[in-house]
Amino acid sequence: MRYAAILAGGVGNRMKSAHIPKQFLEIAGKPIIIWTLERIMKSALFDEIIIAIHPEWNEYLKTMIRDRDLNRSYVKVIDGGKERLDTIRNVIDYIDKTHGINDSDKILIHDAVRPFVTDKIMKDSMDALDQYPAVVAAIPATDTMLWIEDGTKVDSMPARSKLFHGQAPDSFQLTVLRDSLDSLSDEEKETITGTAQICLTKGIEIHTIPGDVENIKLTSDGDLMIAEGIMRERIERDK
Ligand code: CTP
Repeated sequence: MRYAAILAGGVGNRMKSAHIPKQFLEIAGKPIIIWTLERIMKSALFDEIIIAIHPEWNEYLKTMIRDRDLNRSYVKVIDGGKERLDTIRNVIDYIDKTHGINDSDKILIHDAVRPFVTDKIMKDSMDALDQYPAVVAAIPATDTMLWIEDGTKVDSMPARSKLFHGQAPDSFQLTVLRDSLDSLSDEEKETITGTAQICLTKGIEIHTIPGDVENIKLTSDGDLMIAEGIMRERIERDK
């Protein structure tokens, strides 16, 4: 089975202007999470798409999906967890309970708030899993990077050619992700900020595929304006 998980368990505290979880804000006339869902559905790469939403917004999302005629048997809505890792845990437990987990299963894990993921990124990710246990989309760093140990004084400038931004999606052979997550200690959990780090912490090789500069994550208010521009440009381009 090929699964896509859309992580939507957060509320978007850094998006100060938002009066609802940021994944429900509209860009170019449509909620961000719906853009993301439609993009993943249209790729036709997945047998099942699991959206893990903040529990208080579960019904709201289900209604939105029904109203927009996107309710398909292969689109499931489940509850997310307190932390991002808990949300991933819920996704894996859900799959285990409903289908069981098999050696050939693959999973792509994406952020609800990255609506610009491309077919190429998703296809490259799935293809790479034939060879590698874990895959992340990455783009080269373009700014000069500064190492600032105490938060004020520059200690060094690491070689930019070796630095990349890790984006989502992160994709995995499902058994590898499950086993890595199962064996994380509480201390290790504290240090994890990115999904692929779950496996890296356990010594699993993480392969990279090219991300896309437009595959931005909507984190704070300024990102909304940029996203609106990219989306309107894409709508024009696809006409
Ligand atoms: N996420 C999740 N479960 C959580 C926390 C976050 O599924 N318990 C999801 C978010 O919904 C989002 C993605 O992880 O789609 C990326 O995280 P981030 O941008 O940090 O989202 P939030 O946690 O919502 O934002 P903030 O940290 O500003 O509150």
